[in-house]
Amino acid sequence: MEQQLKELQTEALAKVESAEDLKQLNDIRVAYLGKKGPITEVLKGMGKLSPEERPKMGALANEVRAAVSSAIETKQAELEQKAIEEQLAKETVDVTLPGRQVEMGNAHPLTKVIEEIEDLFIAMGYSIAEGPEVETDYYNFEALNLPKGHPARDMQDSFYITEELLLRTHTSPVQARTMEKYKGQGPVKIICPGKVYRRDNDDATHSHQFTQIEGLVVDENISMSDLKGTLEVFAKKLFGEDREIRLRPSFFPFTEPSVEVDVSCMCKGEGCRICKHTGWIEVLGAGMVHPNVLEMAGFDSKKYTGFAFGMGPDRIAMLKYGIDDIRHFYTDDVRFLRQFAEHE
Ligand code: PHE
Repeated sequence: MEQQLKELQTEALAKVESAEDLKQLNDIRVAYLGKKGPITEVLKGMGKLSPEERPKMGALANEVRAAVSSAIETKQAELEQKAIEEQLAKETVDVTLPGRQVEMGNAHPLTKVIEEIEDLFIAMGYSIAEGPEVETDYYNFEALNLPKGHPARDMQDSFYITEELLLRTHTSPVQARTMEKYKGQGPVKIICPGKVYRRDNDDATHSHQFTQIEGLVVDENISMSDLKGTLEVFAKKLFGEDREIRLRPSFFPFTEPSVEVDVSCMCKGEGCRICKHTGWIEVLGAGMVHPNVLEMAGFDSKKYTGFAFGMGPDRIAMLKYGIDDIRHFYTDDVRFLRQFAEHE
């Protein structure tokens, strides 16, 4: 029996020594030290031994167990250390590799023009107002002196969501919304940039979604000359000091009188493709706020007057950067967009 136990010890230690991973080692532990293992098996034969030999064999069996289990522990520590080292080796960072290139974005040309126009008006004491793109029929039309069935509604083909809700066709509803907030108390001096929508067929100069910047000034003694002076400053700052503006009579239901505003072309009247040989480029619609619009929004039209204007940054950006197709703004071609990067 002594022989058997010693052999078992040698065999177990050899297996422990050759274990390659923690799983194999655990299998060896279960096989040799478990209740059904060979050591227990050998000890079952104790009954045949003499009473003097039994304690000796018991002690020997314990020694064998202790030797095997301590060998397993040592091996386990060794294998665990090896696993950690292998993982570390796998995860080392090669600091000599080149860094990952960080792609820099740049502002969209429309954003740039809108921000430039915003800065210009902020410098003249205006603040920025906003309104929803999904608008009610009331603010988009009725509050702007365009009652239901008014023929001028056809000037702006609309995307209706329900009878009473639509995608705003212009930023003018923000005029009405802003005036309501001021509760009949001037002065009001705001611009409102935002997206607008019209049921147009897209082509080089039309888009079903585009941008507008609305302007509104309401105070006592505001006159047409204030409008003209403001727009003159705007045109010179944006297009160049040598530019001039021209007002032509027009019609908008929410302004009276109404004008269409042209800026002189950079060809200085010589005639070019951009101004279609007229020397002038139309850039915005404007006028004196209609008394009905003031009254509906809670302003006393005997005390207050105002002017409003609406311009299209898309068109302005096209003129400024020489862009020949409005669809470039909305088709997200990075080759187009990258041309407006200021870095690189
Ligand atoms: N809302 C008008 C349009 O979209 C523009 C405009 C704004 C005209 C303000 C006059 C005053 O065509």
